[in-house]
Amino acid sequence: MDPELVERAAKLRQLINYHAYRYYVLDDPEISDEAYDSLFNELKRLEEQYPELITPDSPTHRTGGPPAEGFAKVEHPAPILSLTNVTSIEELRAWRDRALRLLPEGVRPTYVVEPKIDGLTVVLHYEDGVFTLGATRGDGFVGEDITANLRTLRTLPLRIPVVPNGLIPPRRLVVRGEAYMSKANFARFQAEQEATAGRKYVNPHNTAAGALRNLDPTVTASRPLDLWAYQVVLIEGGPSLQTQWEALHYLDALGFPVEREQNRLFTDFAELEAYCQQWGDRRHELPYEADGLVIKINEFELQERLGYVGKDPRWAAAYKYPSAEAVTRLLDIVVEVGRTGVLTPRAVLEPVYLGGVTVSSATLHNADYVAERDIRIGDTVVIKRAGEVIPQVLRPLVELRTGRERVWQMPERCPVCGGPVTRYPGEVAYYCENSACPAQLVRRVEFFASRGAMDIAGFGSRQAELFVQKGFIRDVADIYELHRHRDALLELEGFGPKKVENLLAAIEASKQQPATRVLTALGIRFVGSTVAELLLEHFRSFAALAAATEDELAQVEGIGPRIAGSVAAWFRQPANRQTVARLEAAGLRMSLDEAKAEPKALPLAGKTFVITGTLPTWSREQATEIIKQYGGHVTGSVSGKTDYLLVGENPGSKLEKARKLGVPLLSEDDLRRMIGV
Ligand code: IVH
Repeated sequence: MDPELVERAAKLRQLINYHAYRYYVLDDPEISDEAYDSLFNELKRLEEQYPELITPDSPTHRTGGPPAEGFAKVEHPAPILSLTNVTSIEELRAWRDRALRLLPEGVRPTYVVEPKIDGLTVVLHYEDGVFTLGATRGDGFVGEDITANLRTLRTLPLRIPVVPNGLIPPRRLVVRGEAYMSKANFARFQAEQEATAGRKYVNPHNTAAGALRNLDPTVTASRPLDLWAYQVVLIEGGPSLQTQWEALHYLDALGFPVEREQNRLFTDFAELEAYCQQWGDRRHELPYEADGLVIKINEFELQERLGYVGKDPRWAAAYKYPSAEAVTRLLDIVVEVGRTGVLTPRAVLEPVYLGGVTVSSATLHNADYVAERDIRIGDTVVIKRAGEVIPQVLRPLVELRTGRERVWQMPERCPVCGGPVTRYPGEVAYYCENSACPAQLVRRVEFFASRGAMDIAGFGSRQAELFVQKGFIRDVADIYELHRHRDALLELEGFGPKKVENLLAAIEASKQQPATRVLTALGIRFVGSTVAELLLEHFRSFAALAAATEDELAQVEGIGPRIAGSVAAWFRQPANRQTVARLEAAGLRMSLDEAKAEPKALPLAGKTFVITGTLPTWSREQATEIIKQYGGHVTGSVSGKTDYLLVGENPGSKLEKARKLGVPLLSEDDLRRMIGV
């Protein structure tokens, strides 16, 4: 038996037992449920593979934890059921089909869709409109009396209707809802606790759980919880409700917090499917955490017919989205050099499935982030993906250390050029000071050509890297000299004559971009497209901008001292001034007035083109792009309004039509002559 595995299993057991104790006994978990599950699953896998690792105290051989003592037990008036999960549209359809098969032929139910709020189920009892009892879900039949704690929730109605509106409260009403902590309240609470008590809270769910089941209601009161109501469990001496949709409206009218914005009624299942698919991205924008949607057959009569399997009703399903946290091994930390020379540590991870994709890399933000969390190479770490695309490393699980982990530090020299690395006072970032650093240059060139900047088609990160590496480009202005290397370009792998011509044409065409884009493309710190516009609206030209003092810059509406300082510093550098001069010499637009006059001055201004057949070197997209850059536009079919038909090999019926209408025909060469490329 590999001693490393024996050690790993022992550590996992210890860690899982510890966190189970925090969760079940102390009600004060330190790690998220997802992180806990990852650890648990790793141990289970290990034990399955090597049964000799199983010990009598293994947490995999026990489910649940000891029940908390201290709360009175409450029997629920009706079972508080759970939900069956589906994780794909196919499974959702299968759920619907199963339900339909159990209903009489031809019955078409409607469906209510609600967010699946990631909080804790609460069961609220009202007698003659007064809140008398509140309970946890417990095992679904018997819960715990947490009335005193629930009274501290400011959105929980203590008397209904909350606003007198003529509604007579039912004699007895039992409502099911979800108590939760909003993201904003959690962030505030977490920051406060870290500052005052030095305690770390992991997520809103666990924090809310700890609050609700605390024996001291003042603790609950100190953690701001909210409520969403979503089910009438029982009603006596009130209106007879027929559907879930009606029940939601009724709860709303009584003054319960009901998710009006997110709850939906569907009559068409295809629309419901589409909604489930697109909602996955939107859920991150909600002010609270939701891990899925709950789909419910709307009609109570149909719900009754369908009944239950075990603890799950057949009339409802939870459509769950993949979880957002996982645990994996940090294999290495590499440093990347950005466009402005900022060095960013990046985590190389053992690939792990997270939020629907396999992740093998995550950001570590900056050196302080790594140091503050004591993240070491070789650590087992918790990673997370929330709304953002790039996952991040949250923290290491220090209990799993073997002693072979390595502390990481920002290198003193740039990993790419070996140049000195500095950190300015008051800033978290480290910079590579060498502005000729190839890594920076590659990023700058890539940015210059990118869509938001000069928008040069076919010029991406791969080309930037290659041209810098070959020495064709030492400065962004060299992009406009690339045609001098035409022969050398043709020698490069993957660069056929067509590709080279297209690229050179696209570079040439980019000279027509307005001056604001040129300014944006230079990648001056804090100067994005909006700031570039503000600056040029004011100064009109690069010449005037370069001559402006920091004070003059800061006078411009919308330009603060930080931007002014950065712009002035950039134009003070002789190398940068030279770049600007070379761009101007290459024929780029360096003033706004020039750019404003653009539509008329462009050779294809106001002309309408149609393209047919295969052109000798341009793809259809490229031809369209080029025509647009020179002021023309492209439409799909020939009409009386068409000025030219651009004809390639194997033309279609458009040629026929153009001939009939007397529309002039052009070859790619003709067009090149018209625009001079
Ligand atoms: S309905 C029989 N609706 O999800 C009805 N549950 O996995 C079953 N939950 O324990 C529940 N939001 O705590 C329902 N809009 C919603 C919900 C919701 C969150 C929770 C509830 C339940 C769990 C089921």
